[in-house]
Parts: sequence; structure tokens; C-alpha cells
Amino acid sequence: MVQKHFCTTTYIFNEEGDKCLLIRHKKLPFLLPPGGHIDENEDYLESSQREVAEELGFEKEALSYPAYLQEKDGVCLQPWAIQKYTIIPDEHFHYDLVFGATVKESIPIKPGEGESQDVQWFKVEDIDSLETTDECKSNIKRMSQKIRDAREVERVQQDLYIWPRYDESLKKDLSRFVEGRDFGTWNLGDLYEGVPCSFAEKMGVNYGIFTSTGTAGLHAILMALGLKPGDEVIVPSMTFVRAATPLNHLSLQPVIADIDPTTGNIDPKSIEANITPKTKAVVVVHMWGVPADCEEISNICKKHNIRMIEDFSHAHFSMYKDKFVGSFGDAAFASLQRKKNISVGEGGIVVTKDEETYKRLQQITSPGSFMDQTNYSEVDFSGYGLNMRINPFGALTVKNLLPKVDTLLKDKRVAVEKLTSILAKHTDKFELVQIPEYADKTTLSWYSYKLKLKKTTLAELKTKKLWKFSDFGYPPIAEHRYWGKDASYFPFCLGIRPEVRVELPGQTAYLEDRITLNIPTVPASYWTDEVVAKWEAALAD
Ligand SMILES: Cc1ncc(COP(=O)(O)O)c(C=O)c1O
Repeated sequence: MVQKHFCTTTYIFNEEGDKCLLIRHKKLPFLLPPGGHIDENEDYLESSQREVAEELGFEKEALSYPAYLQEKDGVCLQPWAIQKYTIIPDEHFHYDLVFGATVKESIPIKPGEGESQDVQWFKVEDIDSLETTDECKSNIKRMSQKIRDAREVERVQQDLYIWPRYDESLKKDLSRFVEGRDFGTWNLGDLYEGVPCSFAEKMGVNYGIFTSTGTAGLHAILMALGLKPGDEVIVPSMTFVRAATPLNHLSLQPVIADIDPTTGNIDPKSIEANITPKTKAVVVVHMWGVPADCEEISNICKKHNIRMIEDFSHAHFSMYKDKFVGSFGDAAFASLQRKKNISVGEGGIVVTKDEETYKRLQQITSPGSFMDQTNYSEVDFSGYGLNMRINPFGALTVKNLLPKVDTLLKDKRVAVEKLTSILAKHTDKFELVQIPEYADKTTLSWYSYKLKLKKTTLAELKTKKLWKFSDFGYPPIAEHRYWGKDASYFPFCLGIRPEVRVELPGQTAYLEDRITLNIPTVPASYWTDEVVAKWEAALAD
């Protein structure tokens, strides 16, 4: 009579999956993975852990289960599969529950009280030369491949999205700066004057000043342009809220304009629809790296004699036709914080073509009087300023990154190009970002890529290997939780809420089903044909 025994067989691999542990049983002439019987009422996993502890002396915590998923007829069975496994050719059929674990090789192996002896690590590449069953050999090869594939995806994914991308030269510059104690002096002329001006000049603008943050930059610009309490400033309905909060802190009235349903940028027609005699400025944010319609907006501002302030936080060195964004308005600012394309941790920059505005910005952002210092000799620093200067380490970081920024931006452009070419084959599932005619595609400075979903869900996309999808991220400004606070909490700014005077169909259409596709930050050389094919397969899986 044929009896059935359920056993567990645990294949144990090192973390890389290129070595496996096999044991020689006292009773058997060949090598085997650890295995044992399932006790009554025992869970499969528990039984595997028990037997590994008994046979190898491993602590439960040292093992990571399952190391792979068993496959049967090309279908993944979770987390193990039952397979016929005839080790001992007798009258018994052994139905083994085969699954795997990985363990750090450094853990000492001390055979426990079972029947095992001579436990050894074997290289998977040598497995054909070992005395073990054919089933065991093929299981080991298959499982090892799975572990190695998974490790590769992990490794690749780990390196794919690293940001900021810093190199040895920056480390050297920063450590030399620390060793020279240069950060301990007041007047860092080149870092505080030359470097931001060369940033501005690269954009085709005369003057630049570093600020502690992007937010501080907008605050300084609003002051430098002479806006007065009660003046109205038009802002886009959807952007990062700090592109608007300094208005409230200066008692300026934010007025919400609709956005373009395809780009998410402020809609020029909606700007015009919001203009009143009190309107004194508009904040134009170039969202995700794609320029807003600079010429159209600039013409509206000139016609109505209102100031144009650009926020190019997302779009360092992106071009509208043949001019850089940030060079159209009366003044522009950008954040240089954590995730931005030029990233210094926390920092910002303001730029302007106008000398008078530049001097006022210097006074507002400065810490005190520099009358007797050569670099600042022309400006009367009264000490009235808010000291919004960048930290010297941030300024030095920009100095180091500026010559490399074109390569950084090109790498991201290549990544977006490759990914969109793959996504374009799935237009039933996605609506790709539409880039307006006026934007120069060859200079786009991608900050984020915002897709629209059609026949798929974010939950499904989050299971794709290599690809990194996430939520959209920004609530509309007028719906921000900041406004949920009682006005008495910050009476000087919460008393002034953003005003929504026009319909916002563009905002509704833009936000519907929109999600984020994270852009890999790898060098352009990463994208070989083979790699692109891998990404293609990962999305199709
Ligand atoms: C579009 C935009 N404007 C302004 C800011 C504010 O900049 P910061 O965080 O440097 O103050 C950010 C920050 O992420 C931003 O994304």
C-alpha cells in the first residue's frame, strides 16, 4: 500500500543566491537540502523553521522566508508548492512542500540534533558535479536564478532613483572648505556674489542672489517689487503651496487662476479673467519642468501693468522657445532644496535683469552692513534685511554642481525619453504628458513626470519591478489644510484666504486620475537596448 508523507524541504541560499547549503545524512549516500515532516497542527513555515533549527542550529530570525516563489506550470504558487519528490525509492510517496530561505553566510553552521552531518555551502555553478538527485539539482538552479534575478532588480532599483547625485569632487570641495574654516567668515564674496550671478548669467539674466530657501526668495521678491498690503497677486490653482504662502505673510491677497488641463501650468486666459485694479503681480510656476506660456503671460502683464514673478523651482534651465524660464519676468526665484535638479539640501536663488530690483533684493536678504567691504561697496546695507542668505555649504555646492548641471539634466531627459517610448505602447492605459509647441523639448529640465491613468490603477502599477509610481502629491492651493486653521491662529496671514473667483475646469480635468512616475536618476549610458527591453517587460508583466 502506498503511504503519503508530507515533508518540508527547505533550500537555503546565501543572500546573493549563488551558494546553497546541502547536508549529508548519516543514513543516506547523497547530499540533501534540509527537510522533515510536518507535525500534526503545525504550520508549514513553522515546520521548516523547526527542522532548520534542529538540523543546522540556525535561529529562526537568521532566515528570511520565502526566498522565492515556487512555480508550477509557469504559475507562481505562494509561497510554496507541493511537488512529488521521491528521494527514497521505497513504498512511500513523499509529497514535499518545497520552499526556500536565504541566510547570511557568516552565521556559523552547527548541525543540531537531527540526523545530519557534514553541512556545507556549495557553489550553485558546481551543482551538477555533486552527488544529489536530479530534482534537487534542478530545484537549486531554478531557485538560485530567482534569487539572483530578485537581487539584481533590488540592486538596480536601489541605484536607479538616488538623488541628490553627488560625486567625489563635491566631497573634496566641501571638506577643503571645512578644513580651511572658510565658512566662519562674513564676507564670502565669490560664493555670495559671483556664483549666484553666474547661475543667473547662464540663464541669460544679469543678477542672481542665493537665498536660504525658495520660499524666502518669493518673500524677498514681493518686498523688492514694492507690493503693499491689500494688493492682489494671482497664483495658479495647483502648485506647491509655498509658491503662495509668502503672500499671506505680507498681507497680500492671493487670487486663484485656473490651470491648463494638459500641462498643469497657469492658464493665461484665467489670469486675465482675474485682473482687477488691485492686481499688482502674478506668480507663474513652471510645473514639473514644463514651461508655462511665458510670452503670452508676459504680454498680459505688460498690457495691464502688473509684475510677472516666475517660480522656476521645478524647471532649472528649461527653455521656452530660445529663452530660459525665469528670464521673462521682473524677477524669478527657485528652490534648491532636496529633490530639486540643483539640490543643496535647503537653498534658493532669486534672479532679475533689473539693477534696482537686484540692489533691493540684496538689502532684504542680507544680514547687515557691508559698507566697508569691497564686494558690497555699492550697496547701503543698513542692517534692515531679514538675513535670508543661503548657508555657505549650499553656495559651495551650487558652485560645484553648476558646471555639471547640463549632464544631470540630460540624463533625466534621456530617462524620460526611454520611459515614454515604452509607455507610448500602452496608450490604452496611460495618457502621456503633453509638451506644448513653445517648449524646447531638447532642454526640458524634468522634475517629475505626471501621467494620467486610463485602464489601470496605481495599486497595480506599484507592483511593477523597476518602475516607481506614486500618488500625485499636491492638493489644490485653495484646498490646502493650512486654510483649515482658525484665522486667529496666525491672525496676520490666515485672515487672508485665497480667493477663488472663477470656475476651475482646468484644475478638475488636470487632477483627475493623475499620478506620478518617478524619473530614474541614472546616467544616460544606463539605457542600453537590453535595459530598455527589461523595463518594457517589467511594465508588461
Ligand atoms: C514650485 C515650488 N515653489 C516653491 C517651493 C518652496 O521652496 P523651498 O522649499 O525651498 O522653500 C517649492 C518647494 O518644493 C516648489 O516646489
